[in-house]
Amino acid sequence: MYQLFFRLVFRHMDPEQAHQLAFRWIRLVARVPVLRTFVAAVLAPRYRELRTEALGLRLHSPFGLAAGFDKNAVGIDGLAMTGFDHVEVGTVTGKPQPGNPKKRLFRLVEDRALINRMGFNNEGSLRVAARLASRRPVFKTVVGVNIGKTKAVPEEEAVSDYVKSAERLAPYADYLVVNVSSPNTPGLRNLQAVDQLRPLLTAVREAADRSVPGRRVPLLVKIAPDLADEDIDAVADLAVGLGLDGIIATNTTIAREGLGLRSDPALVKETGGLSGAPLKGRSLQVLRRLYARVGDRITLVGVGGIENAEDAWQRILAGATLVQGYTGFVYQGPFWARSIHKGLAARLRTSPYATLADAVGADVRTSR
Ligand SMILES: Cc1cc2nc3c(=O)[nH]c(=O)nc-3n(C[C@H](O)[C@H](O)[C@H](O)COP(=O)(O)O)c2cc1C
Repeated sequence: MYQLFFRLVFRHMDPEQAHQLAFRWIRLVARVPVLRTFVAAVLAPRYRELRTEALGLRLHSPFGLAAGFDKNAVGIDGLAMTGFDHVEVGTVTGKPQPGNPKKRLFRLVEDRALINRMGFNNEGSLRVAARLASRRPVFKTVVGVNIGKTKAVPEEEAVSDYVKSAERLAPYADYLVVNVSSPNTPGLRNLQAVDQLRPLLTAVREAADRSVPGRRVPLLVKIAPDLADEDIDAVADLAVGLGLDGIIATNTTIAREGLGLRSDPALVKETGGLSGAPLKGRSLQVLRRLYARVGDRITLVGVGGIENAEDAWQRILAGATLVQGYTGFVYQGPFWARSIHKGLAARLRTSPYATLADAVGADVRTSR
């Protein structure tokens, strides 16, 4: 049904406009109490066996929406209504910024992929914090807040830009994410180097503690799939050393391997981050490597190319306690999260594991 609608309507629209339209509909439905209760009952069924504890939080399911869909925290309840059990808002930057010039989002339909160079278009941490402060949640959803660097801020001042956002947003975040992996802000990914990352994460940790004295807000870092294996290990060791709560693997990739045979070669040449199916293999590899290094000492979040319940299940077996997706939602529509929850519950039931927690990392542990 959605596939037909996608082919007839969305495919002929500019991808960013289609996103805005779809998101507006979701928010509209979520504003009508009877409608949202009905839609949530259909799209967000809850399975006992999927209950998850992670980052000191209780979740109904391990599956959530990755950062970038709701950059300004305007539609959390609508997204919860469509079945995402946690919603990561952002990336939010210290100052508001318009992002890159349009067009900046491209669909590679035949490859079930997207290329984006949005460039952190967002209203800035002051406004987003005010919005979160005045929010009256309808659904019980975990809200992650993902922060990044303002483009106009020089690299030497990056730490204070992140700190400003952390201070403003930590009070409203169930967990906080330091994004150092978007390919669309010049120099951002250099912050993944351990000598830059250490002071950044330390300062953000202190900022969160300062602004929320009564609660330890879990802190995670989101990394790129393009890191060399030694750098992945270095980030993993740093995260454990600093007492970080988790790592999100991965953001989009600048690689274009295996593309261009099906999708228009002109689109493949667009600069930006590639997401969706072609990212699946590398994201899974990065996750496995991280789990082999850190085990259960910190929480791993698997994201990148997840299209169905089997993909989500493979991430759990590879070490992810939580899984996220974005591009799959664009191509598969409103029933996507539902089908993932359903399929995950079915897989767990027929697996040798009594609980989801027992399945986390099982593949990596047995291959050691
Ligand atoms: C249009 C678009 C915008 C995104 N914006 C952000 C962002 O602002 N911050 C971030 O950390 N990740 C962002 N991402 C990356 C996603 O959160 C996710 O890591 C990536 O798309 C891989 O997952 P997927 O293959 O399921 O889409 C964005 C992705 C897309 C497609």
